[in-house]
Amino acid sequence: MTPFQFRTVPHIVSAPGAAGELARHASPALRGAKRLLVVTDQGVRGLGLLDKALEGLEADGYAVHVYDKVVADPPESVIFQAVSEGREFGAQAVIGFGGGSPMDTAKVVALLLGSDQPLDDMYGMDRVKGPRLPLVLIPTTAGTGSEVTSVAVITTGATSKRGIAAAPLYADMAVLDADLTLGLPKHITAATGIDAMVHAIEAFTGKRFKNPVSDALALAALKMLHTHLERACKDGSDREARAGMLLGAMLAGQAFSNSPVGGVHAMAYPLGGMFHVPHGLSNSVVLPPVLRFNASAAEAPYGEIAGHIGLEASSAGLIAEMDRIAQAVGIERRLSELGISHNDIPAMAEDVAANDRLLPNNPRPMAYGDIVAMYEEIL
Ligand SMILES: [Fe+2]
Repeated sequence: MTPFQFRTVPHIVSAPGAAGELARHASPALRGAKRLLVVTDQGVRGLGLLDKALEGLEADGYAVHVYDKVVADPPESVIFQAVSEGREFGAQAVIGFGGGSPMDTAKVVALLLGSDQPLDDMYGMDRVKGPRLPLVLIPTTAGTGSEVTSVAVITTGATSKRGIAAAPLYADMAVLDADLTLGLPKHITAATGIDAMVHAIEAFTGKRFKNPVSDALALAALKMLHTHLERACKDGSDREARAGMLLGAMLAGQAFSNSPVGGVHAMAYPLGGMFHVPHGLSNSVVLPPVLRFNASAAEAPYGEIAGHIGLEASSAGLIAEMDRIAQAVGIERRLSELGISHNDIPAMAEDVAANDRLLPNNPRPMAYGDIVAMYEEIL
């Protein structure tokens, strides 16, 4: 058997309503910290998702400062602003509360408040020295899995994004409260849910770091997500479906944090970077051509996935089912529906071809011409 390593967050709490009892659940992870910086965004705050958590924390004697100005695709300026507010407040621990952007921001803020390593030195793989402040992450969408990954993605220029991937980014605790996801609109539920399925598919077919633990998690994730995605889209108040999606996204996050994503994410990044298409939607749109392209090199794992979720055990079975799901949940299928035209393809394809972090994980090598052809296919 090929040697491997597997890491994840050491303490996970999954319970409906857990956010309202955050003080009790998070207390071991906070290691005595009494001054908490909560990192979130205005959408989450406006929906009142934080209210119960804040009430509970304050009733238990915690002093809390809320930084709620995280934006999608967070730039460095947001990180620095949160760090400066946290420092002024005397924060002793950080709580990330929201979708991928607030959680990624919280990870980096906890590092910057806990050590004097400059942000610029942290980008890349395993460059973070730590230590960091105690960190608890609470997702309010079911997709990114960021609550259990060791990655944070930051926007560093007009269109460019950089990642920080290192073990100190694993939080001390992830708290899964499916009630927080009950109000997610159908379109976001669909796109983020398909993104979570992509995490599991890409982890299971990863060329470099695929391992028995990430494989088991990826298959469990796919079963959970496949069972609940359409139900959650059809009836957002279906608590069992919401819990299944949140758990499935977390399992997929554990899988891809150890066996990283490949060609689908590489093809999705320029849609976000250049056209601000949300991450989940970008992945959903580019998934079909990449699955078809990879099929010749990934017949066995695609077939295994398809069989595991009750389909005909072949790549054709998986491809047809992912197409059917995209149609059933009403997700966009074409780049032109997202305002992307033929003339944009060369620059996008160049960006993908230069992605030497993700392309080596893809089961089949992807050259510039292949990438152009795949974008053309879905124009
Ligand atoms: Fe993703």
